[in-house]
Amino acid sequence: MNYEETTQAAAFIADATGFDTHDAALVLGSGLGDYAASLPDAVVVPYADIPGFPVPQVVGHGGSLISAPVGDGRILILSGRVHTYEGWEMDEVVFGVRAVIASGAKRVMLTNAAGGVNSSYSPGDLVIIDDHLNLTGRNPLLGANDDRLGPRFPDLSTVYTPRLRAELAKVFTDVGITPYEGTYAWFLGPTYETPAEVQMGRTLGADLVGMSTVPEAIAARHMGAEVAGISLVTNLAAGISPTPLSHDEVTETAARAKETFTAVLDAYLPIFVSGSGV
Ligand code: HPA
Repeated sequence: MNYEETTQAAAFIADATGFDTHDAALVLGSGLGDYAASLPDAVVVPYADIPGFPVPQVVGHGGSLISAPVGDGRILILSGRVHTYEGWEMDEVVFGVRAVIASGAKRVMLTNAAGGVNSSYSPGDLVIIDDHLNLTGRNPLLGANDDRLGPRFPDLSTVYTPRLRAELAKVFTDVGITPYEGTYAWFLGPTYETPAEVQMGRTLGADLVGMSTVPEAIAARHMGAEVAGISLVTNLAAGISPTPLSHDEVTETAARAKETFTAVLDAYLPIFVSGSGV
């Protein structure tokens, strides 16, 4: 997918939502897709209507783009995402994030369900992503670079903007939860990791393991957008958990954590959208 397809999608989004520009974007991960339904005055655009947009197939994922007023601006919410493990190409995996940035979003919040590697975490905890490990050997920027999207060799010194992390930490504290920060290791999936892989991740500095987010974070930074990330620990990672892992456990924990997740987003999104800080 190239620059032209991205700008075409952005033009369609402007037309379908009735808004030429949006300030920020939010990607909702596994089991978290309901959040957008709670926002008043939202305009919903099914992914299937947007030219070039890949449509998710995983249980627990929606498949629509929502435009909503938040605070003194507007947000685009990607409810549901496509994953590399479903067989999508890298440029398809990052298409949605590129389209919302081309629609004006200067900040992108990525959320996901993840396995907890750090022994401080319990299922249901939210963790602010402070950095990532790309353990897949894949990268959405492989191939010829389109300079209209971003530079050939993007700097990834601060993928997850320190200012946004600090704002999130304050919001976590305000809503009464521990402001955990952690490093997210991207595994390809669709298998959950083996205990040995989780130990490897731990040795390398991972606090969380999951199957998404990293390609979108890379594509967003490539385009110059700022990135924030929140993982919901839906389970302890393999070998740390005393029980086998299941997707049902992931969606059940996500459902239980909905209230906290909603409280964090309700408190933070107006700040995130305005870009003015706390
Ligand atoms: N591993 C990878 N992805 C996940 C996990 C996990 O343990 N939990 C939720 N998504």
